[in-house]
Amino acid sequence: MSAEEIVLCMGSSCFTRGNNKNITMIKNYFEGKDREVKISGCLCEDDCMNGPHIRINGRKFSDVTEEKMSDILGEEL
Ligand code: FES
Repeated sequence: MSAEEIVLCMGSSCFTRGNNKNITMIKNYFEGKDREVKISGCLCEDDCMNGPHIRINGRKFSDVTEEKMSDILGEEL
């Protein structure tokens, strides 16, 4: 079983625009699940206008609102 790899932009813009909550949603989603996940953060990706950004297994998602995060968790993970 390969681990899921999730990288959240932790630059100040992405963090305050949603990744502060998205990281909690991701952690809660995986809690109690028998799945390996590697969660990490990255510095600003110089695309703040379209943030917050998240990468899941290399695929980039932009403008990740709370609602979009729920959809992504259901569809991608
Ligand atoms: S803070 Fe995420 S792109 Fe700038």
